[in-house]
Amino acid sequence: MKTLIDRLEGGESLSRGEFKALLSVEEPYLYERARAARDRVYGNKIFMRGLIEFTSHCKNDCYYCGLRRSNKAAQRYRLTKEQILGCCESGYGLGFRTFVLQGGEDAYFDDDRLAEIVSEIRRRYPDCAITLSVGERGYDSYLRLYEAGANRYLLRHETANSDHYGLLHPPELSPENRKKCLRDLKEIGYQTGCGFMIGSPGQTLEHIVEDLAFIKELKPAMVGVGPFLPHSCTPFAREKSGDLQLTLRILAILRLMRPNLLLPATTALGTLCDKGREMGVMAGANVVMPNLSPMDVRKKYMLYDNKIATGSEAAENVADLKKRMLAAGCELVISRGDYIEIQR
Ligand code: 5AD
Repeated sequence: MKTLIDRLEGGESLSRGEFKALLSVEEPYLYERARAARDRVYGNKIFMRGLIEFTSHCKNDCYYCGLRRSNKAAQRYRLTKEQILGCCESGYGLGFRTFVLQGGEDAYFDDDRLAEIVSEIRRRYPDCAITLSVGERGYDSYLRLYEAGANRYLLRHETANSDHYGLLHPPELSPENRKKCLRDLKEIGYQTGCGFMIGSPGQTLEHIVEDLAFIKELKPAMVGVGPFLPHSCTPFAREKSGDLQLTLRILAILRLMRPNLLLPATTALGTLCDKGREMGVMAGANVVMPNLSPMDVRKKYMLYDNKIATGSEAAENVADLKKRMLAAGCELVISRGDYIEIQR
Protein backbone atom coordinates (compact mmCIF):
# COMPACT_ATOMS: atom_id res chain seq x y z
CA MET A 1 0.00 0.00 0.00
CA LYS A 2 2.73 2.46 1.00
CA THR A 3 4.65 2.03 -2.25
CA LEU A 4 1.47 2.44 -4.30
CA ILE A 5 0.72 5.71 -2.51
CA ASP A 6 4.34 6.87 -2.90
CA ARG A 7 4.18 6.23 -6.62
CA LEU A 8 0.80 7.95 -6.98
CA GLU A 9 2.12 10.98 -5.14
CA GLY A 10 5.29 10.95 -7.21
CA GLY A 11 3.16 11.56 -10.30
CA GLU A 12 3.56 8.05 -11.71
CA SER A 13 0.77 6.48 -13.72
CA LEU A 14 -0.59 3.43 -11.97
CA SER A 15 -1.89 0.43 -13.85
CA ARG A 16 -5.59 -0.35 -13.90
CA GLY A 17 -5.02 -3.20 -11.47
CA GLU A 18 -3.12 -0.96 -9.06
CA PHE A 19 -5.81 1.70 -9.15
CA LYS A 20 -8.43 -0.94 -8.51
CA ALA A 21 -6.43 -2.17 -5.53
CA LEU A 22 -6.36 1.37 -4.10
CA LEU A 23 -10.08 1.81 -4.74
CA SER A 24 -11.01 -1.32 -2.84
CA VAL A 25 -8.78 -1.09 0.21
CA GLU A 26 -9.91 0.19 3.57
CA GLU A 27 -6.96 2.13 4.82
CA PRO A 28 -6.78 5.05 7.26
CA TYR A 29 -3.20 5.53 6.08
CA LEU A 30 -4.53 6.59 2.65
CA TYR A 31 -6.45 9.44 4.29
CA GLU A 32 -3.51 10.44 6.47
CA ARG A 33 -1.29 10.78 3.43
CA ALA A 34 -3.99 12.69 1.52
CA ARG A 35 -4.35 15.20 4.36
CA ALA A 36 -0.60 15.65 4.56
CA ALA A 37 -0.45 16.28 0.79
CA ARG A 38 -3.20 18.90 1.06
CA ASP A 39 -1.59 20.58 4.04
CA ARG A 40 1.74 20.91 2.22
CA VAL A 41 0.11 22.99 -0.54
CA TYR A 42 -2.80 24.80 1.13
CA GLY A 43 -2.23 24.27 4.84
CA ASN A 44 -5.21 22.99 6.83
CA LYS A 45 -7.37 25.74 5.34
CA ILE A 46 -10.84 25.12 3.99
CA PHE A 47 -12.09 27.57 1.38
CA MET A 48 -15.76 28.38 1.16
CA ARG A 49 -17.77 29.26 -1.93
CA GLY A 50 -21.21 30.79 -1.86
CA LEU A 51 -23.49 28.81 -4.14
CA ILE A 52 -26.22 30.79 -5.90
CA GLU A 53 -28.61 28.45 -7.69
CA PHE A 54 -30.06 31.05 -9.98
CA THR A 55 -32.23 29.03 -12.37
CA SER A 56 -33.89 25.63 -12.12
CA HIS A 57 -34.94 25.63 -15.78
CA CYS A 58 -33.03 23.14 -17.89
CA LYS A 59 -33.28 22.14 -21.53
CA ASN A 60 -31.42 18.88 -20.91
CA ASP A 61 -32.88 15.55 -19.93
CA CYS A 62 -30.09 13.77 -18.03
CA TYR A 63 -31.49 10.57 -16.57
CA TYR A 64 -30.08 11.15 -13.07
CA CYS A 65 -31.02 14.77 -12.47
CA GLY A 66 -34.16 16.11 -10.83
CA LEU A 67 -34.00 19.27 -12.95
CA ARG A 68 -34.35 17.29 -16.21
CA ARG A 69 -36.87 18.80 -18.58
CA SER A 70 -39.11 15.71 -18.48
CA ASN A 71 -39.66 16.12 -14.75
CA LYS A 72 -42.99 17.93 -14.92
CA ALA A 73 -43.24 17.92 -11.12
CA ALA A 74 -40.13 20.09 -10.73
CA GLN A 75 -40.75 23.63 -9.57
CA ARG A 76 -39.04 26.02 -11.94
CA TYR A 77 -37.76 29.46 -11.03
CA ARG A 78 -35.33 32.11 -12.18
CA LEU A 79 -33.68 34.70 -9.98
CA THR A 80 -33.60 38.29 -11.22
CA LYS A 81 -30.33 40.18 -11.54
CA GLU A 82 -31.28 42.13 -8.41
CA GLN A 83 -31.92 38.92 -6.46
CA ILE A 84 -28.56 37.51 -7.54
CA LEU A 85 -26.80 40.71 -6.50
CA GLY A 86 -28.67 40.53 -3.19
CA CYS A 87 -27.26 37.03 -2.62
CA CYS A 88 -23.76 38.36 -3.28
CA GLU A 89 -24.28 41.22 -0.87
CA SER A 90 -25.36 39.00 1.99
CA GLY A 91 -22.66 36.48 1.08
CA TYR A 92 -19.94 39.12 1.18
CA GLY A 93 -21.09 40.13 4.64
CA LEU A 94 -20.89 36.51 5.77
CA GLY A 95 -17.27 36.26 4.59
CA PHE A 96 -17.65 34.72 1.14
CA ARG A 97 -15.04 35.78 -1.43
CA THR A 98 -16.16 33.42 -4.17
CA PHE A 99 -19.62 33.39 -5.71
CA VAL A 100 -20.68 30.36 -7.71
CA LEU A 101 -23.50 31.01 -10.16
CA GLN A 102 -24.98 27.63 -10.91
CA GLY A 103 -28.04 26.79 -12.95
CA GLY A 104 -29.63 24.45 -15.41
CA GLU A 105 -29.03 25.04 -19.10
CA ASP A 106 -31.57 27.83 -19.45
CA ALA A 107 -31.77 29.72 -22.76
CA TYR A 108 -33.23 32.73 -20.96
CA PHE A 109 -29.74 33.41 -19.61
CA ASP A 110 -28.17 34.11 -22.98
CA ASP A 111 -24.76 35.75 -23.26
CA ASP A 112 -26.13 39.29 -22.99
CA ARG A 113 -28.06 38.63 -19.79
CA LEU A 114 -25.40 36.53 -18.13
CA ALA A 115 -22.51 38.81 -19.10
CA GLU A 116 -24.40 41.77 -17.68
CA ILE A 117 -24.85 40.00 -14.35
CA VAL A 118 -21.22 38.86 -14.24
CA SER A 119 -19.85 42.31 -15.02
CA GLU A 120 -22.00 43.92 -12.35
CA ILE A 121 -20.77 41.41 -9.73
CA ARG A 122 -17.21 42.04 -10.93
CA ARG A 123 -17.70 45.83 -10.61
CA ARG A 124 -19.14 45.61 -7.10
CA TYR A 125 -16.79 42.90 -5.75
CA PRO A 126 -13.38 43.36 -7.37
CA ASP A 127 -11.77 41.23 -4.63
CA CYS A 128 -14.00 38.20 -5.23
CA ALA A 129 -13.77 35.26 -7.60
CA ILE A 130 -16.76 34.55 -9.82
CA THR A 131 -17.38 30.92 -10.73
CA LEU A 132 -19.88 29.90 -13.39
CA SER A 133 -21.55 26.51 -13.62
CA VAL A 134 -24.07 26.77 -16.42
CA GLY A 135 -23.27 23.81 -18.61
CA GLU A 136 -22.23 23.47 -22.21
CA ARG A 137 -21.86 26.66 -24.26
CA GLY A 138 -19.79 27.66 -27.26
CA TYR A 139 -16.21 28.98 -27.17
CA ASP A 140 -17.31 32.54 -27.91
CA SER A 141 -19.84 32.46 -25.11
CA TYR A 142 -17.25 31.22 -22.61
CA LEU A 143 -14.85 33.89 -23.83
CA ARG A 144 -17.40 36.66 -23.48
CA LEU A 145 -18.26 35.61 -19.91
CA TYR A 146 -14.57 35.42 -19.05
CA GLU A 147 -14.05 38.92 -20.40
CA ALA A 148 -17.04 40.08 -18.37
CA GLY A 149 -15.14 39.02 -15.25
CA ALA A 150 -15.74 35.32 -14.54
CA ASN A 151 -12.62 33.48 -13.33
CA ARG A 152 -13.64 29.90 -12.80
CA TYR A 153 -15.97 27.36 -14.42
CA LEU A 154 -17.37 24.08 -13.15
CA LEU A 155 -18.52 21.52 -15.70
CA ARG A 156 -18.48 17.95 -14.52
CA HIS A 157 -17.50 15.52 -17.25
CA GLU A 158 -19.87 13.02 -15.49
CA THR A 159 -17.98 9.97 -16.84
CA ALA A 160 -14.97 9.65 -19.12
CA ASN A 161 -16.30 6.43 -20.68
CA SER A 162 -18.44 6.99 -23.79
CA ASP A 163 -20.67 3.96 -23.30
CA HIS A 164 -21.32 4.89 -19.69
CA TYR A 165 -21.98 8.48 -20.76
CA GLY A 166 -24.67 7.13 -23.09
CA LEU A 167 -26.26 5.27 -20.19
CA LEU A 168 -26.60 8.47 -18.15
CA HIS A 169 -27.60 10.90 -20.88
CA PRO A 170 -30.00 11.10 -23.82
CA PRO A 171 -28.43 10.76 -27.28
CA GLU A 172 -28.40 14.52 -27.97
CA LEU A 173 -25.69 14.98 -25.35
CA SER A 174 -22.23 13.78 -26.35
CA PRO A 175 -19.16 13.05 -24.27
CA GLU A 176 -17.00 14.56 -27.02
CA ASN A 177 -18.71 17.92 -26.75
CA ARG A 178 -18.46 17.86 -22.97
CA LYS A 179 -14.73 17.28 -23.18
CA LYS A 180 -14.34 19.94 -25.87
CA CYS A 181 -16.08 22.46 -23.59
CA LEU A 182 -13.63 21.62 -20.80
CA ARG A 183 -10.65 22.13 -23.09
CA ASP A 184 -12.09 25.43 -24.38
CA LEU A 185 -12.58 26.67 -20.83
CA LYS A 186 -9.01 25.86 -19.90
CA GLU A 187 -7.64 27.45 -23.05
CA ILE A 188 -9.53 30.68 -22.37
CA GLY A 189 -7.94 30.86 -18.95
CA TYR A 190 -10.66 29.78 -16.54
CA GLN A 191 -9.66 27.82 -13.44
CA THR A 192 -11.64 24.85 -14.68
CA GLY A 193 -13.34 22.09 -12.74
CA CYS A 194 -14.53 18.73 -14.02
CA GLY A 195 -15.95 15.89 -11.95
CA PHE A 196 -18.19 12.88 -11.70
CA MET A 197 -20.66 11.06 -9.49
CA ILE A 198 -19.66 8.00 -7.50
CA GLY A 199 -21.98 5.04 -7.89
CA SER A 200 -24.03 6.36 -10.78
CA PRO A 201 -26.03 3.56 -12.43
CA GLY A 202 -23.87 1.30 -14.57
CA GLN A 203 -20.59 2.66 -13.17
CA THR A 204 -17.80 0.12 -12.67
CA LEU A 205 -14.38 0.44 -11.05
CA GLU A 206 -12.96 0.35 -14.59
CA HIS A 207 -14.94 3.49 -15.39
CA ILE A 208 -13.57 5.22 -12.32
CA VAL A 209 -10.04 4.32 -13.40
CA GLU A 210 -10.84 5.97 -16.75
CA ASP A 211 -12.11 9.06 -14.93
CA LEU A 212 -8.85 9.29 -13.00
CA ALA A 213 -6.84 8.94 -16.22
CA PHE A 214 -8.94 11.67 -17.86
CA ILE A 215 -8.33 13.97 -14.90
CA LYS A 216 -4.60 13.31 -15.03
CA GLU A 217 -4.57 14.32 -18.67
CA LEU A 218 -6.89 17.36 -18.39
CA LYS A 219 -5.10 18.80 -15.32
CA PRO A 220 -8.11 20.70 -13.99
CA ALA A 221 -7.88 23.16 -11.09
CA MET A 222 -10.91 21.61 -9.40
CA VAL A 223 -12.64 18.25 -9.32
CA GLY A 224 -16.17 17.85 -7.96
CA VAL A 225 -16.99 14.32 -6.86
CA GLY A 226 -19.91 13.23 -4.76
CA PRO A 227 -22.13 10.18 -4.43
CA PHE A 228 -24.96 9.60 -6.87
CA LEU A 229 -28.27 9.99 -5.04
CA PRO A 230 -31.57 8.96 -6.64
CA HIS A 231 -34.33 11.43 -7.40
CA SER A 232 -37.85 10.02 -7.26
CA CYS A 233 -39.04 11.68 -10.49
CA THR A 234 -36.25 10.40 -12.74
CA PRO A 235 -35.69 7.11 -14.58
CA PHE A 236 -33.13 6.29 -11.87
CA ALA A 237 -35.63 6.64 -9.01
CA ARG A 238 -35.07 3.06 -7.85
CA GLU A 239 -31.30 2.97 -8.18
CA LYS A 240 -29.21 2.87 -5.06
CA SER A 241 -27.04 5.67 -3.70
CA GLY A 242 -23.29 5.85 -4.20
CA ASP A 243 -21.04 4.39 -1.53
CA LEU A 244 -19.61 6.64 1.19
CA GLN A 245 -16.29 4.81 1.62
CA LEU A 246 -15.67 4.63 -2.12
CA THR A 247 -16.33 8.37 -2.43
CA LEU A 248 -13.84 9.10 0.37
CA ARG A 249 -11.19 6.87 -1.18
CA ILE A 250 -11.58 8.63 -4.51
CA LEU A 251 -11.20 12.02 -2.83
CA ALA A 252 -7.97 10.83 -1.21
CA ILE A 253 -6.64 9.37 -4.45
CA LEU A 254 -7.39 12.62 -6.30
CA ARG A 255 -5.59 14.62 -3.60
CA LEU A 256 -2.52 12.38 -3.85
CA MET A 257 -2.55 12.40 -7.65
CA ARG A 258 -2.82 16.18 -7.80
CA PRO A 259 -1.92 17.71 -4.41
CA ASN A 260 -2.86 21.23 -5.51
CA LEU A 261 -6.44 20.42 -6.53
CA LEU A 262 -9.34 22.40 -5.16
CA LEU A 263 -11.47 19.55 -3.96
CA PRO A 264 -14.93 20.15 -2.51
CA ALA A 265 -16.57 18.08 0.19
CA THR A 266 -19.89 18.19 -1.67
CA THR A 267 -23.45 18.77 -0.58
CA ALA A 268 -24.26 15.29 -1.92
CA LEU A 269 -21.70 13.85 0.52
CA GLY A 270 -23.33 15.82 3.35
CA THR A 271 -26.74 14.55 2.23
CA LEU A 272 -25.63 10.91 2.12
CA CYS A 273 -24.36 11.10 5.68
CA ASP A 274 -24.63 13.77 8.39
CA LYS A 275 -20.87 13.86 8.94
CA GLY A 276 -20.17 13.39 5.23
CA ARG A 277 -18.44 16.68 4.61
CA GLU A 278 -16.25 16.36 7.69
CA MET A 279 -15.26 12.91 6.47
CA GLY A 280 -14.53 14.40 3.04
CA VAL A 281 -12.22 16.95 4.64
CA MET A 282 -10.54 14.16 6.62
CA ALA A 283 -9.95 12.42 3.28
CA GLY A 284 -8.23 15.46 1.75
CA ALA A 285 -10.98 17.82 0.54
CA ASN A 286 -10.39 21.56 1.00
CA VAL A 287 -13.50 23.34 -0.27
CA VAL A 288 -17.08 23.64 0.97
CA MET A 289 -19.91 25.28 -0.94
CA PRO A 290 -22.69 26.50 1.33
CA ASN A 291 -25.96 27.59 -0.19
CA LEU A 292 -26.47 31.34 -0.68
CA SER A 293 -29.69 31.09 -2.70
CA PRO A 294 -32.78 32.85 -1.36
CA MET A 295 -34.48 30.60 1.24
CA ASP A 296 -37.73 30.25 -0.70
CA VAL A 297 -36.07 28.68 -3.77
CA ARG A 298 -33.74 26.24 -2.02
CA LYS A 299 -36.23 23.39 -1.99
CA LYS A 300 -36.86 23.90 -5.69
CA TYR A 301 -33.30 23.18 -6.79
CA MET A 302 -33.59 19.45 -6.23
CA LEU A 303 -30.97 17.54 -8.17
CA TYR A 304 -31.67 14.50 -5.97
CA ASP A 305 -34.05 13.61 -3.13
CA ASN A 306 -33.58 15.12 0.35
CA LYS A 307 -30.87 17.58 -0.69
CA ILE A 308 -29.79 19.41 2.47
CA ALA A 309 -30.24 23.17 2.34
CA THR A 310 -30.92 24.70 5.72
CA GLY A 311 -28.40 23.25 8.23
CA SER A 312 -24.66 23.95 8.24
CA GLU A 313 -24.74 23.94 4.43
CA ALA A 314 -26.78 27.15 4.57
CA ALA A 315 -24.50 30.13 4.14
CA GLU A 316 -26.18 31.75 7.14
CA ASN A 317 -24.74 29.03 9.38
CA VAL A 318 -21.06 29.69 8.73
CA ALA A 319 -20.43 29.45 12.49
CA ASP A 320 -21.74 25.88 12.59
CA LEU A 321 -19.73 24.94 9.52
CA LYS A 322 -16.63 26.45 11.12
CA LYS A 323 -17.10 24.20 14.13
CA ARG A 324 -17.58 21.16 11.94
CA MET A 325 -14.40 21.92 9.99
CA LEU A 326 -12.50 22.43 13.22
CA ALA A 327 -13.68 19.00 14.35
CA ALA A 328 -12.10 17.69 11.14
CA GLY A 329 -8.82 19.44 12.04
CA CYS A 330 -9.25 22.35 9.65
CA GLU A 331 -9.78 26.08 9.63
CA LEU A 332 -12.56 27.65 7.56
CA VAL A 333 -11.09 30.86 6.14
CA ILE A 334 -12.21 34.09 4.50
CA SER A 335 -10.31 33.95 1.23
CA ARG A 336 -10.77 33.71 -2.53
CA GLY A 337 -8.95 30.40 -2.28
CA ASP A 338 -7.36 30.42 -5.72
CA TYR A 339 -5.71 27.45 -7.34
CA ILE A 340 -1.98 27.24 -6.66
CA GLU A 341 0.09 26.08 -9.65
CA ILE A 342 2.89 23.71 -8.73
CA GLN A 343 5.53 22.03 -10.83
CA ARG A 344 5.90 18.34 -10.42
N1 5AD B 1 -27.06 12.65 -7.54
C1 5AD B 1 -25.85 13.20 -7.33
N2 5AD B 1 -25.37 14.21 -8.06
C2 5AD B 1 -26.13 14.69 -9.05
N3 5AD B 1 -25.92 15.65 -9.96
C3 5AD B 1 -27.02 15.76 -10.73
N4 5AD B 1 -27.94 14.87 -10.36
C4 5AD B 1 -27.42 14.17 -9.31
C5 5AD B 1 -27.86 13.10 -8.53
N5 5AD B 1 -29.05 12.53 -8.73
C6 5AD B 1 -24.64 16.33 -10.09
C7 5AD B 1 -24.11 16.18 -11.51
C8 5AD B 1 -24.06 17.61 -12.01
C9 5AD B 1 -23.99 18.41 -10.73
C10 5AD B 1 -24.48 19.81 -10.85
O1 5AD B 1 -24.79 17.68 -9.82
O2 5AD B 1 -22.81 15.59 -11.50
O3 5AD B 1 -22.97 17.88 -12.85
